Amino acid sequence: MKSNSVIELIQSHRSIRKFTSDSISSEQLEQIIESGRWAPTSHHVQAYSVIVVQDEEKKKKLAALAGNQSYVETCPVFFVICADFYRLKQTSTIHQQAFEIGEEEQVLVGAVDAALVAQNMLLAARSFNLGGVMIGGIRNDQEAVTELLDLPPYTFPVMGLCIGYPDQNPEQKPRLPKEAVVHSEQYDTKSLVEAIEEYDEVMKQYYYDRTKGKRSDTWSEQMASFLSTPKRPQVGEFLKKQGFLK
Ligand SMILES: Cc1cc2nc3c(=O)[nH]c(=O)nc-3n(C[C@H](O)[C@H](O)[C@H](O)COP(=O)(O)O)c2cc1C
Repeated sequence: MKSNSVIELIQSHRSIRKFTSDSISSEQLEQIIESGRWAPTSHHVQAYSVIVVQDEEKKKKLAALAGNQSYVETCPVFFVICADFYRLKQTSTIHQQAFEIGEEEQVLVGAVDAALVAQNMLLAARSFNLGGVMIGGIRNDQEAVTELLDLPPYTFPVMGLCIGYPDQNPEQKPRLPKEAVVHSEQYDTKSLVEAIEEYDEVMKQYYYDRTKGKRSDTWSEQMASFLSTPKRPQVGEFLKKQGFLK
């Protein structure tokens, strides 16, 4: 089937982590934000907020908090996309209703809403030949990010998003084969090991080529190592502090 510009944009995705010093225009910024606003949200709750960070000092602090990810500082605009039930607290107060956000469900709702907004924003940015990368590293210390950005209760930072003009041209990172991620009518576990092995070979070659032979680890090795230790055990306590997860 014939492709089109939207399909081409989506399927040519690569994260960009090196930016030129060019700034992005206020019209572009406006359109990126507007595109985020048009994301669908669960039950129309619109449980998200976007913090636009352009201040150099603030970006520097956020870069450090995200685990010294320098591109958070060097990108011209950094967005922090938050789950946000603070304004929903106001709607409950106005209408004198109980405000029930103690279930894990509300955390999922806020995180999903934020993620959809972020992806819309990234795609909108890419339509202007800008590039970017999402930053889960801002969850390393959500408490400090919350303090730095003055986030109110019933909110939490979900992810960051660096946007700017690309100063690198990385190859696309191969994805898992379709058979490993798409199932027809019911989940099929049978071909999984084979698909992982096939993908390991692809990724091994990808890393080998990209690092001129210095690196040749596989995806399954990486994932096994990634999941061998807890990642951010403090997240649950932080969410409770913000009014979630009673
Ligand atoms: C929610 C989310 C959080 C991410 N956090 C980071 C991050 O903190 N630092 C980083 O360099 N990349 C981050 N990434 C980018 C992923 O590493 C990247 O999407 C993945 O390796 C696939 O590469 P690609 O986007 O170039 O195809 C994140 C991506 C997502 C979706």
